[in-house]
Amino acid sequence: MKKIQINSFEDYRQQYQESINNPEEFWGGIAENFNWHKKWDQVLDWNFDEPKVEWFKGARLNITENMLDRHLNTLGDKKAIIWEPNEPGHSPKTYTYQELYDAVCEFANALKSQGVQKGDRVCLYLPMIPQLAIAVLACARIGAIHSVVFAGFSASALADRIQDAEAKMVITSDGLRRGVKEVPLKSVVDEALENCSSVERVIVFSCLNWNIDMQEKRDIWWNDAIRNQAGPCPATSMDAEDMLFILYTSGSTGKPKGVVHSCAGYMVYTAYSFQNVYQYQPEDIYWCTADIGWITGHSYILYGPLLSGATSIMFEGIPTYPDAGRFWEIVAKYKVNQFLTAPTAIRSLMGAGDEHVEKHDLSSLKVIGSVGEPINAEAWHWYHDKVGRGQCAVVDNWWQTETGGIMISGLGNFSPQKPTYAGYPLPGIQPVLLNQDGTEIEEADVEGYLCIKAPWPSILRTTYGDHERCRVTYFSHYKGYYFTGDGAKRDADGMFRIIGRIDDVINVSGHRFGTAEIENAINEHEQVVESAVVGYPHPIKGQSIYAFVVCDDEIPEEEKARIEIKEVVAKQIGKIALPEKIQFVSGLPKTRSGKIMRRILRKVAEGDVSSLGDTSTLLDPAVVDEIVQKAL
Ligand code: WTA
Repeated sequence: MKKIQINSFEDYRQQYQESINNPEEFWGGIAENFNWHKKWDQVLDWNFDEPKVEWFKGARLNITENMLDRHLNTLGDKKAIIWEPNEPGHSPKTYTYQELYDAVCEFANALKSQGVQKGDRVCLYLPMIPQLAIAVLACARIGAIHSVVFAGFSASALADRIQDAEAKMVITSDGLRRGVKEVPLKSVVDEALENCSSVERVIVFSCLNWNIDMQEKRDIWWNDAIRNQAGPCPATSMDAEDMLFILYTSGSTGKPKGVVHSCAGYMVYTAYSFQNVYQYQPEDIYWCTADIGWITGHSYILYGPLLSGATSIMFEGIPTYPDAGRFWEIVAKYKVNQFLTAPTAIRSLMGAGDEHVEKHDLSSLKVIGSVGEPINAEAWHWYHDKVGRGQCAVVDNWWQTETGGIMISGLGNFSPQKPTYAGYPLPGIQPVLLNQDGTEIEEADVEGYLCIKAPWPSILRTTYGDHERCRVTYFSHYKGYYFTGDGAKRDADGMFRIIGRIDDVINVSGHRFGTAEIENAINEHEQVVESAVVGYPHPIKGQSIYAFVVCDDEIPEEEKARIEIKEVVAKQIGKIALPEKIQFVSGLPKTRSGKIMRRILRKVAEGDVSSLGDTSTLLDPAVVDEIVQKAL
C-alpha cells in the first residue's frame, strides 16, 4: 500500500517522478487504500485513438462502501455533512457518517422499490439540500447512474438532458430558496416531461411546503417513497469501469455532452487529489461553496471528501444573502479550515468592501482554494491578504468536468505560490503545451494549447451515447493527446498559468456555455435570422456574453426585442446564460466559405477595434464598419 498524502515539496517531486516512471505501480499502491470486492487484474490498459481507457481492470467495488460503510466503525459519530440553510434563521442540519449511511440506505431501498435498477439513469434536479447528497449516493449504492442537472437550467435544457440519458426517473423538489427568491422546480420538471417519454417516476421532496400538482401514478412524494424503507441496503457490486455518473457540459459545438465517469478510477483520483490539494487532516472542517450541479460539487463536496472521512459543509444559499459577509460568517461559525470557491465570488465579495471580511474571525483557515476560471492578480491578492490574512496557502485548482479531478494546483501550504499561476501538475498528470502544428513547446513563457499526454484515473471514459463525439472532441485534434480546449503558459520553473478557453466555449461566472448553444437559443426568436455570440472580459463574471443578431425586418423597438431575446434564452437554457449585450446588425462578418469570423466580433466585444487584422477574405467587408460603428 502506498500512503496517499504527500507531506513536503520534495516529497511531491519524488512522488511525481514515481507516478510518471511507473504509473501502474504508483496508482496500484494508492488504490490499496480502498475496499474492493475483488482486486484488479491489470492497473491500466489504454489507447487515446479509440479512445479506450481502463483503470483497475477486472476489479469490483462499490464507491459508497468506501464513503460510508468503511468509516462506520471508526468515524460513525463524526460529522460527514453539515448543511447550512439559505436562511440564517433556519436550523442547520448535520449528518454523522452513521446517519448519512442510514439515510442513503433508506433512500436506495426506496429507489429499488420504485423500480430503479443497476444501469438505469436517474436525473436529479434539486436544490442544495441534504436530499441531493443522499440521492446521489443512493444511486451509486445500487449502481444506478446519476445525472445531476443544475437547478438553474430551464425546462427545455432539462428535457434535452433527460432525453439524451433516457432517464427512467427524475428526483426534484417543489422549489428552492436562493437568497430572497423562491424558485419553482417541480413545475419546470412537469414542463420538461411533456417531451420525455422515458421517465416513469418522479420523486418530489417538499422543500418549501408548497401545494403543487402531483401527477397520479407518475409522481410520488419523497416521504411516501421512503416509508418502511429504513434498514441496510446492500451495496451493488460494480465493475471498476461501470458508469458511475453522467454530467452534461457544454462544448464548442452542438448540444451539451454527457461526460461519463466510471467507478474505480474516479474514486481513487478524487480522494487522492482532495487529500493532497487540501492537505486535509482528520479534525478539519472543509467547505466548498460550489453547487453539486457542477463537477466541483460532485468531486469536492461529495465524493473526494466523504471518501476521505472528512466533514464537508454544504450551503444552500448565495454569497450575498443576507449580506456580503455570509461566507465569512459561515467560516467563523464552523471554524472552517479549508475553503474553496470561485474567482467570480471572490471578485464580487471584494467589491462589497473589506468590512464584511474583517468583521469575522477567519483564523481557522489554513488552505483557501480557487476553481473554475482564471483568477486575476487583484482578486488573488485580495483573497490571499484579506481572506487568508496573508497566512493561508492559496491553491488555484485547474481542471474540467472531463478530467473528473484537479489536474494542476498547489498542494496545501508547501507548494511555491505565484499569483495567477495554477502551479504544478499533480502526480500522474502529464500536461504539455502544443503549437498549432502539434509539436511540443519546450521554451518558457510561450503560450500553447494545453494537452495531456497520458491517462489519469478519473479521465472521462466516453460521452454518453456517442463515443465518436468523445473521440472527435478530445482525442482527434492532436494524435495521442487529450485536448483540453484551454490555452496555457509554463514559466521557467515549470509552473503553469491557464489563459482560458481557445475554443468556442464561454466561461461566465465559472459556468461553461458553448457559443453554438446560445446562438441556437437566440435563433428561436421569430424575427431572428441568425446570430453570433462571443465572450468578452467582465470585471466580476470573468466573461460575459455579447450577441450579434441579424433580424428579418427592421427592429422598431430594439429594447423590446432585446428583452424578448433574453426571454427566449432563459426559456431554452436558463437565466444563467443570458447575453449581457445584444447588438442588432444587418449581417455577420463571414468568409467566402460562409464561416463567421469570430475573431473580429471578439475584438468588437472587447472594445478593441484598433487592430481588426486582415479582413480581406470577408465576403462583405462593409458589414464590419457598420458593426464597429454601432458597437455597444
Ligand atoms: C476553466 C470546472 C483557470 C478552464 C472545474 C476549463 C480554469 C474550464 C480553472 C472547465 C482554473 C477551471 N484556472 N481556468 N483554476 N478551473 N477553469 O468543466 O477553461 O466547469 O477548461 O470544470 O474552466 O470548466 P468545468
